[in-house]
Amino acid sequence: MELVRATEAAAIRAAPWIGRGDKNAADGAAVDAMRKFLHTVEFQGRVVIGEGEKDEAPMLFNGEVVGNGEGPECDIAVDPIDGTSLTAAGRQNALSVIAVADRGSMYDPKDLFYMDKIVTGPEGIGVIDLAKPIGENIRALAKAKGKAVEDMVIAVLDRPRHEKLIAEIREAGAGTRLMLDGDVAGGINAARSATRIDMCTGIGGTPEGIITACAIKALGGVMQGRMYPRNDEEREKAIAAGHDLDRVLTQDDLVRTDNTYFVATGVTDGGLCAGVRREGKRIVTDSVVLRSHSGTVRRVQAEHLEAKWL
Ligand code: FBP
Repeated sequence: MELVRATEAAAIRAAPWIGRGDKNAADGAAVDAMRKFLHTVEFQGRVVIGEGEKDEAPMLFNGEVVGNGEGPECDIAVDPIDGTSLTAAGRQNALSVIAVADRGSMYDPKDLFYMDKIVTGPEGIGVIDLAKPIGENIRALAKAKGKAVEDMVIAVLDRPRHEKLIAEIREAGAGTRLMLDGDVAGGINAARSATRIDMCTGIGGTPEGIITACAIKALGGVMQGRMYPRNDEEREKAIAAGHDLDRVLTQDDLVRTDNTYFVATGVTDGGLCAGVRREGKRIVTDSVVLRSHSGTVRRVQAEHLEAKWL
């Protein structure tokens, strides 16, 4: 629960940058605030997924140790804003996100930027397989959910690289929800029953994939991923580092523990969380806290005295 203070802080500090056209300023403000608050949390966190290597990211770099130095040893993945461009443009669905798991349990994506992913709710267990054609997966999931294929809704990042995937989804008879950005929220929405999204699939960030896996463990859904090198150089580097690029990784490969935490606070309004807003002298934040051990989904609405944040 303490972790949520760090995503709340990141969202609050990013909020003045919503719609200002400067994604770096928004991200910088969020990183700074998240890091500050993380150092007050009682744990010994090692950043496995952060803002990048130390020489390019002065804060929350991969390998950085965060927390107050007491309590459990953990791996931590941070995404101070998933949806920096959404924030800069003033669009919906930007979140501030943290995932935490036992030390040594998170897959280290090293230099692999992208991952091919598929995420569904619990009905997809033993049913979906990333190695199979998308049409087959849609039909199998529709059957498991007792739905007509025509009623299936598949979330995909709106990218030229997904042209063929999108065409195949539509040919199968399902509908798409094209996302401008933010496939962490897309994956979570696919795993929750209270949304219109049945599946989230396509190529997105590897860090976001591992963070999503932590959330999916708490939601009881399914996530699979396969590394997707951007070019031959990345492919060769990854193979030399020991990655099996053909292997479909399950959520248990991506996070090798059943003890995960996921917290997210809305930066801008979205389906998962409402964005930061002002109510008189107070700033209101909306967050979600997921814990895999108990499978609990907590909603946290907090009111912060504006004067404390000036
Ligand atoms: P950022 O906010 O860090 O830019 O990430 C947004 C995002 O849409 C992720 O949710 C997604 O995994 C990734 O970018 C996809 O990458 P790309 O924009 O290169 O397709």
